[in-house]
Amino acid sequence: MKRSPASRCVDRRSLLAGAAATLSGAAVAASLVPMWARRRLPNRVVLEPRETEFELLAGLPTTSLFSYTERGPAPELRVRQGEQLSVLLRNALDEPTTIHWHGIRLSNALDGVPFLTQPVVNKGETFDYTFAPPDAGTYWYHPHCNSLVQLSRGLGGLLIVEEAKEPGYDADIALNLRDWRLGPDGQFIGFYLPRQTARAGTFGTVRTANWRREPIYDVASGGLVRLRLAATDVTRVYRPAVEGADAVVIALDGNPLGKPQPLDKDMIAPGQRMDLTIRMPDEEGRTVDLRDHSSQATVTLARLRSVGASRRRNLREVAALPSNPIPEADLTSASVISLEFTATAEQIAKSTFCGDLGYSFWAVNSKPWPGSSPDPVAPLVELKLGRSYILNLHNRTPHAHPIHLHGMSFRLLRSDRRELPSVHTDTVLVLPDERIDVALVADNVGDWLLHCHVIEHQETGMTGFVRVS
Ligand code: C2O
Ligand code: CU
Repeated sequence: MKRSPASRCVDRRSLLAGAAATLSGAAVAASLVPMWARRRLPNRVVLEPRETEFELLAGLPTTSLFSYTERGPAPELRVRQGEQLSVLLRNALDEPTTIHWHGIRLSNALDGVPFLTQPVVNKGETFDYTFAPPDAGTYWYHPHCNSLVQLSRGLGGLLIVEEAKEPGYDADIALNLRDWRLGPDGQFIGFYLPRQTARAGTFGTVRTANWRREPIYDVASGGLVRLRLAATDVTRVYRPAVEGADAVVIALDGNPLGKPQPLDKDMIAPGQRMDLTIRMPDEEGRTVDLRDHSSQATVTLARLRSVGASRRRNLREVAALPSNPIPEADLTSASVISLEFTATAEQIAKSTFCGDLGYSFWAVNSKPWPGSSPDPVAPLVELKLGRSYILNLHNRTPHAHPIHLHGMSFRLLRSDRRELPSVHTDTVLVLPDERIDVALVADNVGDWLLHCHVIEHQETGMTGFVRVS
C-alpha cells in the first residue's frame, strides 16, 4: 500500500492498484493492466525482508524496523481463490527467516516452519513459495523464525484471497492491526518482560492500522464497505467496535458466517481475522470510527470518511459469501484427542538457530517445546490421513490462549462456557479454564505446528505439532 497521506481515496480500483504498485519485478508490469479488467491481480511477487526505518510516530523515525519492502509496511497481497501465487523470499536480513502463510491450506513443504518443514533461509538465500490458495478470505503471512523479534520489528503482511465471483462492495479495505513497543523517542524498547511472558504477554505501547495511527480512508457516502481486520499483534486481543454506522460480521478467520451477525463485544486474538460489512452514512463528510475496547481507555484504530453523493446502497445488495471447500468431519466416527494447555516449571529451552527466548513457561500436554531446532521432537499426536478427529482443547491456565493449527482448518463445535459460532477456523481463542471441542478431517499430509499465537507463549513452550500420515 502506498504510504503516506493518512487519507486517500480507496475505491476498489485504486485500492488494488495501490497494492500492486508496491510489488516488485514482474508484478509491476501486471499493475499496469487496468484494474477494472479484474483477473489481473499480480501473481508473482518478490518479498525481500530487510532492516529499514519508518515514522510510526510523527517526526521520530523508528530505526531497525524490519519490512518485506523498501519502505513502510509489507505489500498487501491479493490473489483470486484457486489461482496460483508465486512469492520469492529473498532474505536481506542479517539473520535467518522463513514465511508462514497463516490460515492457508497448502502443502507441508511450503508451511514455513524451520526444521519441521523447511531449512531456514539465511541472508542472501532465496525460497520459492508457490501455491494456489483453496479458500477465499482474509489471511496473512509472517516469519516463523526468531518470531518475537521479527514480528515485533515489523515483519508480517496481509494476504487477501478474493472470491471467484465479486460480492459487490463499493470498497474493500484491509487493516493490519498491530502494536509496537516504542519508547517516547520512537525507538524500540525490550520486546518482552519475562514476568509478563509468564502471564498474558507483553503489550505494545503504540497501536496502529497499516502502520499508521488513526489512518483515514475515504469511501463513497451511502456505500458498502468490506472492512477486513487482521490481528497481527504478538499479544493484544482486540475488541473492535464500529461507531457512526451499522456493522455486521460476515466472516471470521477467512470463513463466512452462515448468517451475518451484529458486531458486539467480539474479540480478535493474535492471528485471527474478522471481515465486516459497513454501510456508510448518506451524508458527505461523516466519519465512521473503528475503535478498540481491549484496554481501559478505548483507542481509535482507523476511520472511514464518506465522500461524494450517496450511493444509497442497501446491506441486502451484497451477495452472501460462498463457503470454502473445507471437508466436514464425520462426528460419528471421529476419535477424540485431548490437548491440555498449561504452565510448566520444567526448563528445557535450548538456544536455537531461530533465537527463541531461553525460557520455558508453558506446555502442551505437559511438554514444553524446546524451540526451533534440528533435533527431532516427537509429535503431540499422529493422525491418519483422511480420518476425522475431535480435538478437545483445554486451557488450564488463568490466561487466554489463541490456539493456531497449521495446514488444516477445523470447525468450532462447542465450548463449556459460551456460545461459539459454527465456523471453520485456523485459530481459536481458548479462555481461562475453558474447554473447546473442534473437529477436523486430517486431509493434509505432513507435520503441522499447533501453538498459541501469543508469540511469547509460542516461544516459551506452548507449541507442538501433529503428524498426518
Ligand atoms: Cu501465524 Cu505458526 O503461525
Ligand atoms: Cu498463549
